[in-house]
Amino acid sequence: MPKASTRWAAGLHTLILLVSCILFLGGPLTRPAQADVRGADYFTNLTLTTSEGKEVKFFDDVLKDHIVAVNFFYTSCTDLCSLSTARMAQIYEWLGERMGRDVFFVSITLDPETDTPERLARFAAGFDIGKGWTFLTGSRENIDIIRSKLGERARALNLHRSDMVIGNARTGVWRRSSVMGSLVIALQSILELDPDFQAGVQAGPTALAGSLHINTEYDLSAHPGEAIFLRACASCHTIGLGKKYAPDLAAVTVRRDQDWLRKFIMDPDLMLGAGDPMAVLLDQDYPDVVMPNLGLGPQDADDLISYLAAADARLAAVEQESAESYLAYEAAHGLSEADSTPAHQDGSEW
Ligand code: HEC
Repeated sequence: MPKASTRWAAGLHTLILLVSCILFLGGPLTRPAQADVRGADYFTNLTLTTSEGKEVKFFDDVLKDHIVAVNFFYTSCTDLCSLSTARMAQIYEWLGERMGRDVFFVSITLDPETDTPERLARFAAGFDIGKGWTFLTGSRENIDIIRSKLGERARALNLHRSDMVIGNARTGVWRRSSVMGSLVIALQSILELDPDFQAGVQAGPTALAGSLHINTEYDLSAHPGEAIFLRACASCHTIGLGKKYAPDLAAVTVRRDQDWLRKFIMDPDLMLGAGDPMAVLLDQDYPDVVMPNLGLGPQDADDLISYLAAADARLAAVEQESAESYLAYEAAHGLSEADSTPAHQDGSEW
């Protein structure tokens, strides 16, 4: 098996482990508040700087009294950081008005030498991030102390953890939550930290998704390509629903050469680095978000391409069906005119 595929398989394995850990750690919802509430003594009040250039004290200004989800990333990361940010951005969207009121997200760079406040601001803008989500940089020394307090002790940048530390600084409950497994479960573990909300989430993720009217499409899977797409691509791309943080992939299998597509899905960073003209153009269109290199192998790329093509065929069938039912409606109501045009007949506007 090719190396990249093995890496992806290993990644999947880790994901499954992570999800099982979370299910396990999620434990009983009635867990008593812990007596030992960690505060500034533990988390420190070292100074960090926000993407707006404002200096903040880590515990007092960022964590105190809040329910928070903290992750580590760096803007020049070409693999998991942008995917985990995009997945957190989905939870952020679901939390809606709760963001900045009941829940706060915090992303801390592991590469403060490169990541100036301006770079953090551009990165956040790429994911439409606003109220309630703070991006932080600072001195190497302060960041190293803070990350170690939060259990991020990787020795190399690309080995850092891609999960979140979630906690309620008021009740002192702290846990880890994956952003690569079910996002509804991640959402649920954040909401569970709020004692006032607990009663509402006891029914489990499906009921929670229903009660919050959120779309759980990310948790469904059938086609092997679909499983990868939902986990690794859907937080940035849609198929036929318009631009998100990245191009809409509807008809991409028609628009691009198959070999190019395969290579781009596996190694977008290498293609951009080598100056591939299309990769360069796409990068210019989306300057603030990078297409991550997720270590996918040729089989994964083929499964994805076949899934994208199947999704296009489904879109075309829906289009055909709506055109036919429109024509049938017209005929039944005697509306047919020689020049009547069913919606989307030319395949545009999807
Ligand atoms: C973090 C966001 C993100 C994730 C996750 C992501 N992409 Fe992308 N993708 C992008 C961006 C941004 C571009 C535009 C090029 C650039 O700026 O790097 C892109 C471009 C593409 C293109 C070229 C589109 C075109 O019009 O030619 C394809 C194909 C693609 N991505 C497929 C995928 C697949 C398949 C996955 C999942 C395995 C995926 N992407 C995951 C952000 C993402």
